[in-house]
Amino acid sequence: MKWFILAIPVLMILACQPENHKTALSEGGADPHSYANAAAAFVKHLDLDIAVDFEQQQIKGKASWTIDNSAGATELVFDDSKLNIEKVSLGADESSTTFSFGQEKEFIGKALKVAISADTRQVNIYYTTDKQASALQWLTPRQTAGKKHPYLFTQSESIAARSWIPCQDSPGIRFTYNARVRVPKELLALMSAENPTVKNDSGVYHFKQVHAIPSYLLALAVGDITFKAVDSRTGVYAEPSVLQKAVWEFADMGKMVTAAEKLYGPYRWGRYDLLVLPPSFPFGGMENPNLTFITPTIIAGDRSLVSIICHELAHSWSGNLVTNATWNDFWLNEGFTNYFERRIDEELYGKHEADMQAVFARHALDDAISDMGAGSKDTHLKTDYSGRNPDEGTNDIAYEKGYFFLRGIEAAVGREKFDAFLRSYFDAHAFQSLTTEQFLDYLNKNLIKGDGELEQKINVKAWVYGPGIPANIVAVGSERFKVIDGLLGRWRKTGQLTGLRKEIVSSNEKRYFISQLPADLTATEMSELDKEFHFTASNNTDVQLGWYTLAIRHHYTAADQRIRSYLIENGRMWHIIPLYKALLKTPEGTKTAKEIYKIARGNYHPMTYQAIDKLLK
Ligand code: BES
Ligand code: ZN
Repeated sequence: MKWFILAIPVLMILACQPENHKTALSEGGADPHSYANAAAAFVKHLDLDIAVDFEQQQIKGKASWTIDNSAGATELVFDDSKLNIEKVSLGADESSTTFSFGQEKEFIGKALKVAISADTRQVNIYYTTDKQASALQWLTPRQTAGKKHPYLFTQSESIAARSWIPCQDSPGIRFTYNARVRVPKELLALMSAENPTVKNDSGVYHFKQVHAIPSYLLALAVGDITFKAVDSRTGVYAEPSVLQKAVWEFADMGKMVTAAEKLYGPYRWGRYDLLVLPPSFPFGGMENPNLTFITPTIIAGDRSLVSIICHELAHSWSGNLVTNATWNDFWLNEGFTNYFERRIDEELYGKHEADMQAVFARHALDDAISDMGAGSKDTHLKTDYSGRNPDEGTNDIAYEKGYFFLRGIEAAVGREKFDAFLRSYFDAHAFQSLTTEQFLDYLNKNLIKGDGELEQKINVKAWVYGPGIPANIVAVGSERFKVIDGLLGRWRKTGQLTGLRKEIVSSNEKRYFISQLPADLTATEMSELDKEFHFTASNNTDVQLGWYTLAIRHHYTAADQRIRSYLIENGRMWHIIPLYKALLKTPEGTKTAKEIYKIARGNYHPMTYQAIDKLLK
């Protein structure tokens, strides 16, 4: 009985803590991509006070960190990439202290070490950002839809937050934040927090993120931005000329949130809004809390690419609520999110839709593994990217091998049981960061429960710590795609294409059809296909990516102009890099790639051009 009586006050204290800031890392784990010594002292809250200067292309201000120093450390270590640190002081009274830097390393930057004392509770850092800050893209008016005002946005994931705010830049360390941001009066500022919906006359905006988040979810956008509600808790921010189209395209947002809640419990962040960025945005979407950032290139005019919103929304549970503790656990973010995304898809758009996504997932996984080599350690779910840029780990191992691992567990225990497990997993770890090992521990205790047969069936070790594709991967298939296989076969036999466009209609169907076209296509066949389907002129970026890759491979020059403008106008990294790679396979292609890149590079985000610089050098 005694332990029970003793446990009551402890449980009461735990229950009263609003959100648990302690993490795998503050308890002694290690993040190879951060200098922060969280075991000694770690941050809990940020008060940010910054001004955005478009002339200097610089953010200037002060980051005041409230810290937990219960261990009595004498040094607090932050991550810093190319920041200019002007002054550091301690406490509300700003008493002076000293600071020093560690050695600068490629992509991870350097340690900023601040001398503190056992009773230090606040550290204030005055700084400015560098022109080369890897998280920041400063757009000229010409690079926006409206062409009148400049625009700034951040992209912090994976380890770029340290280039615009001095922080402990590890996903295992969480903090709440308040911010005051000064911008030119004609612009609106937005963050990954509670947001304003209209501009004010002062150009000063206040933000509050009441939930503890990791640094990679810090985000800011500044531009000529307007807002329109979709329903009572969802809405869209975009430049004025894009807003109406975007609101129409994303009309299902509210339904997506409701479907997600039905699956895995309440949406805990308050509002869920989208910000449609200019086309240089380097991703399809980025799950910044309260405000998903998305590329305008998914506005196809027919709602065909909205599953990206399901994906970013799903991160409000997998990723933002329960976070990978280090980038070596990245599959916990993206594998879970792909699984969750497709469950929302299925709920809203039917099983045939989710089935098609699953087939694409299998293709993507097979491609990733054949690129990396089936025996490569990088094909384990638990990865080791220490000494390398964690962005190299953002591949289909995390996304699709992670997805198939979860599909396998679902198949082994049944959907009902797996859903209950996932829901309890999110609840039990809300606002915490987890390592792969902590997830596996939870899986063992709550689902496998010592059942040896079940453990074998799921095959955990092979999936998480083994290479390639384990034998028990679930088989996937799509009825619609089988029909397309038949149509393809018929065409190859008869040469008869006419009418096919009436049978291959949706974006997924076209994408599949293109992916299954034979390797020995002739130029005549390419132009016959184009006549039937108008692929070259398509505005659907999934179709464009597939078709343009073929066009390059088969020297189908009728697509040259469209490929060129696609590469110049679209900055979505994972939708343009494959095309540059395809071009680089031949000497003429290389010449074309270099010539296009000369014009396009200025439109790309630092992340994007750094990746393409490497390819083209
Ligand atoms: N969080 C990722 C984007 C990301 C990953 C940024 C790693 C930086 C480093 C986001 O949720 C994502 O996965 N976006 C995809 C969406 C797709 C899988 C539906 C994208 O941008 O294509
Ligand atoms: Zn994602």
